[in-house]
Formats: sequence, structure tokens, C-alpha cells
Amino acid sequence: MTQTIAVIGSTGLIGLQFLNSISKGEYEGVTAITRREIPSLSGKPYIHQAIRDFSDLEKMRPDLKTDVLVCALGTTIKTAGSQERFFEIDHNIPLALAKIAHEEGCQTFILVSSMGANAHSKIFYSRVKGQLETALEKVGFEQLHILRPSMLLGERQESRGGEFIGKLIMKPLSFLIPWQYKPIHASIVAAKIRALISGGDSGTSIWSGRELFKKN
Ligand SMILES: NC(=O)c1ccc[n+]([C@@H]2O[C@H](COP(=O)([O-])OP(=O)(O)OC[C@H]3O[C@@H](n4cnc5c(N)ncnc54)[C@H](OP(=O)(O)O)[C@@H]3O)[C@@H](O)[C@H]2O)c1
Repeated sequence: MTQTIAVIGSTGLIGLQFLNSISKGEYEGVTAITRREIPSLSGKPYIHQAIRDFSDLEKMRPDLKTDVLVCALGTTIKTAGSQERFFEIDHNIPLALAKIAHEEGCQTFILVSSMGANAHSKIFYSRVKGQLETALEKVGFEQLHILRPSMLLGERQESRGGEFIGKLIMKPLSFLIPWQYKPIHASIVAAKIRALISGGDSGTSIWSGRELFKKN
């Protein structure tokens, strides 16, 4: 079945990797919802870039009339500048867009969450991720896929000191690390998203550890 796909977090490591992996005619329509133009997608006219102001989410309603919404949107507490702002970006924006998409008939939501996500965690970051997961379960999607990757690997424009050091240490030792904690390349996460679009089960599915590394 051909489907329409919309992506939020389109400029990020996962969002862009996923969008770049889509070939012409694969889906009925693809919309990258973004704050700024994505030059690397300019040669792909089959991906529509919807450049939007994220302070007015309601205006995105027409973009969110889609079969599948993929969310790879997020920030860091450091970039956000405060816990409140982080909560607004990592929790409130995805949840509000999910609700609008559902109202517009979207039945499949795919969330790139995080390892350790837990609404009751003592760690603020993990708690926010968990709270978003819990809130999304109440929206009523036919399919809700929650991906919980550990550290993401791949080329990103902005360098993150902690991640760089982590990668250096963890990459050669990766075979010793339990699946749940293994760094994972963005291309593997993108492949998982594609597999879930073409045939995921109904209900809520959580993908972590070894299951996340499998294409189906
Ligand atoms: N990085 C990791 O190692 C890691 C590990 C586990 C889970 N995760 C989670 O996985 C998801 C994807 O991660 P990633 O590394 O691919 O993300 P990323 O490269 O940091 O990209 C984040 C995306 O979110 C968008 N965004 C950030 N703040 C926004 C705002 N205020 N309004 C609208 N859009 C905003 C960015 O758009 P702009 O380009 O316009 O800023 C970008 O498209 C995130 O939720 C992240 O928390 C990451």
C-alpha cells in the first residue's frame, strides 16, 4: 500500500538520514516539515519541504494530513537553555503535532525516543522522553512505534563534545557492550523506520536493544 509520510525533525541526524534514504515513487507523498530549507534535498522534488514556524503549530495542520508521522525532533538541555524549554521542545511540540495529525486521520506515529526513557526516571532527560511516550499512547494511534536508541552515530554538522568522546571510547569496545547500550548508526535507525512503515504491527511497539538493529 502506498502511503503519505511526514517527518518532523527533518534536518537532524536521523530525520535527514531517513529522508535521504527514500527513493522516488516509494511513497505516495513525502513532506519534510522544517524550520529552514534543506539544501541536500533540493535535487529530490518528490520530497516536499514545508518550511514552517514552530511557534504556530496549528498552521501545520495541512502538512499533518498524512498516513504516517515520523518524529525525530529533539534538542539537548544545553542547547535549549533550560529544563522548561527542553520540555517544550522534546515533549510539548511532538505531542501537539501528534494530536493534530491524529485529528487529521494519521494512524501511524513513529517516535525516535531514547534509551532509558521512563516517565518515572530520576534523570530529567529520560523522564521527559518517557512522559512523551506515555502521553502519545493516549492519543489513539492505530500504530505507535517507539524507538529507543542509545548514542547515535553518523555525520552531523554540529559537533557535540561529550558524544565525540563517547564514540571514541565506545566504538572499538562495542562488541562488549550490551545491545541496549550499543551506539547505533543513524542509517540503521532509518532502515528500521522504513521497515516499520512498510509493515508494523498495530498497537504500541517499543524497539530497543537488539530488536532495534534488526530491519524487521
Ligand atoms: N544524539 C543522540 O545520541 C541521541 C541518542 C538517543 C536518542 N536521541 C533522540 O533521538 C531524536 C533524534 O536525534 P538526532 O540526533 O537525529 O537529532 P538532531 O540531529 O539533534 O536534530 C534535531 C531535530 O530537531 C529539530 N529541532 C530542534 N529544536 C527545535 C525546535 N525548537 N523547533 C523545531 N524543531 C526543532 C532540529 O531542527 P533545526 O535543524 O531547525 O534545529 C532537527 O531537525 C531526538 O529526539 C534525540 O533526543 C538522540
